[in-house]
Amino acid sequence: MRNQLVAIELSAVNRHTPIVKTLLLPDEAATRGFARALALAQGLANAFVALHGDLGTGKTTLVRHLLEGLGVTGRIKSPTYAVVESYELPAFNIWHFDFYRFNDPQEWEEAGFRDIFASSGLKLAEWPEKAATLLPPADIDLHLTTHNTSESARMATLTANTPLGAGLLEALA
Ligand SMILES: Nc1ncnc2c1ncn2[C@@H]1O[C@H](COP(=O)(O)OP(=O)(O)OP(=O)(O)O)[C@@H](O)[C@H]1O
Ligand SMILES: [Mg+2]
Repeated sequence: MRNQLVAIELSAVNRHTPIVKTLLLPDEAATRGFARALALAQGLANAFVALHGDLGTGKTTLVRHLLEGLGVTGRIKSPTYAVVESYELPAFNIWHFDFYRFNDPQEWEEAGFRDIFASSGLKLAEWPEKAATLLPPADIDLHLTTHNTSESARMATLTANTPLGAGLLEALA
């Protein structure tokens, strides 16, 4: 009986252990390559990926390469002013948020953001910290930081918080 209880506890721990991956992206071409690989990962079509990082670290750049990898054609605008830009692909919808200027929780309901996060499709969010109390947990938290090896080098740290996120990171291996 005692052993059985221990086994249950351990499996509960394992299920919640986040999977973390760290990548060095020496230049924008490497960021593009990573974004293209992520675009091919099984399950991305229903994921929520939160993009963290200081101003100018490359969150929008990564999203542009990701969306191009998914087949979005035409101009991919940064949603800094509009808060969200949406894209319709034949197979699924994509919403690219930038919450940097988001400061009205009422807008969350009025603009339909709650409905977007409750529906299927790919959600990408820059500056998720600015809407932290409203956002659901991300399948993947992606942190971008600069790196001292060169001006164009970035470190990407990906943390999976859900089974969907864990599957995505495994697919990236
Ligand atoms: N390895 C790299 N990966 C991504 N972008 C890079 C890299 N090296 C240089 N860059 C450049 O860094 C800049 C990143 O700007 P970007 O708008 O993507 O940042 P951001 O994180 O979205 O900023 P903000 O918080 O203002 O939205 C771009 O000019 C891009 O060309
Ligand atoms: Mg940006």
